[in-house]
Amino acid sequence: MRKSVVVLAVALLSMMLLSAWAVEEVALKKKKPKKICNKGWECSGSVYCCNQTISDLFKVENFEELFAKRNTPVAQAVGFWDYHSFITAAALYQPRGFGTTGGKLMQMKEIAAFLSHVGSKTSCGYGVATGGPLAWGLCYNKEMSPSKIYCEPDYLYPCTPGVAYYGRGAIPVYWNYNYGLIGEALKVDLLDHPEYLEQNATLAFQAAMWRWMTPIKKKQPSAHDVFVGNWKPTKNDTLVKKVVPGYGATMNVLYGDQVCGQGDVEGMNSMISHYLYYLDLMGVGREAAGPHELLSCAEQLPFNPSSSSSSSSSSTSKR
Ligand SMILES: *[C@@H]1O[C@H](CO)[C@@H](O)[C@H](O)[C@H]1NC(C)=O
Ligand SMILES: *[C@@H]1O[C@H](CO)[C@@H](O)[C@H](O)[C@H]1NC(C)=O
Ligand SMILES: *[C@@H]1O[C@H](CO)[C@@H](O)[C@H](O)[C@H]1NC(C)=O
Repeated sequence: MRKSVVVLAVALLSMMLLSAWAVEEVALKKKKPKKICNKGWECSGSVYCCNQTISDLFKVENFEELFAKRNTPVAQAVGFWDYHSFITAAALYQPRGFGTTGGKLMQMKEIAAFLSHVGSKTSCGYGVATGGPLAWGLCYNKEMSPSKIYCEPDYLYPCTPGVAYYGRGAIPVYWNYNYGLIGEALKVDLLDHPEYLEQNATLAFQAAMWRWMTPIKKKQPSAHDVFVGNWKPTKNDTLVKKVVPGYGATMNVLYGDQVCGQGDVEGMNSMISHYLYYLDLMGVGREAAGPHELLSCAEQLPFNPSSSSSSSSSSTSKR
């Protein structure tokens, strides 16, 4: 009697072990689920948040150093831009990989690259600026003395009467349809109130990050994807358009033929110079940017050829 109980127990135990082993094997065969991380308010519920966040790598001192002259009396947007708005805005995009992709070096490079677009587009560092022309990013938050109201008939995003859609923000937004599109994405009524972008620095950074992270046209990558290497060019991209993943391609995505495929134009060189300067200031060093072919888009055919003649300094593509 006793013996059979023992036999039964042993049999049961081995069955349990067997089934536990089987379960484990099924789990191994199933594709490993992506690890979801939670790192507090900055980045939670995304695979990217296991890595360091932007504020781990980029501190308020770094921000102050990059944009050293933004609060000098000659700057237009004195007191407007600050580190906190940048970090608050970034919290929205870090879970999607903004500044959190690829490990520390790539993360630092992406922060520098994004901010170089911002710095170059908002700089007043021309002429005899002290501290060098690259120290004057975030001097503006809007276009000064616009010559037009940037209104074009649009079915989805018609202009609001009396409202002007001149350039505003960190990577300036122009035209009613771009304000409409970005406002929809951020759930803020920018079509009626484009001025929000010159009143709220967090929103201005969010609009710029949205643009960096979002492909505007079908079959096109985002600036983020071409920069961090998520985008794989086709043969046509490489051989015909001469587009390679890297910094140069971010300018192509954001500005198309307003900047790219035009040879060594000043607008392009200004962005590249800001990028290298920021890499140096952040302690990464400009060598990390790679060869000039990756930085430049001088020979690239545009992702976004501008169709009409009304090519302004629009940073968002025309439809
Ligand atoms: C996190 O960082 C590591 C290196 O530190 C990198 O290899 C990995 O790709 C990063 N994770 C994501 C999701 O980018
Ligand atoms: C600025 O914009 C952010 C992001 O849309 C929003 O959360 C915040 O409430 C705004 N601040 C003000 C003062 O309107
Ligand atoms: C490659 O590019 C050329 C020139 O732009 C175009 O005519 C052709 O259709 C493209 N081929 C493919 C497969 O996309």
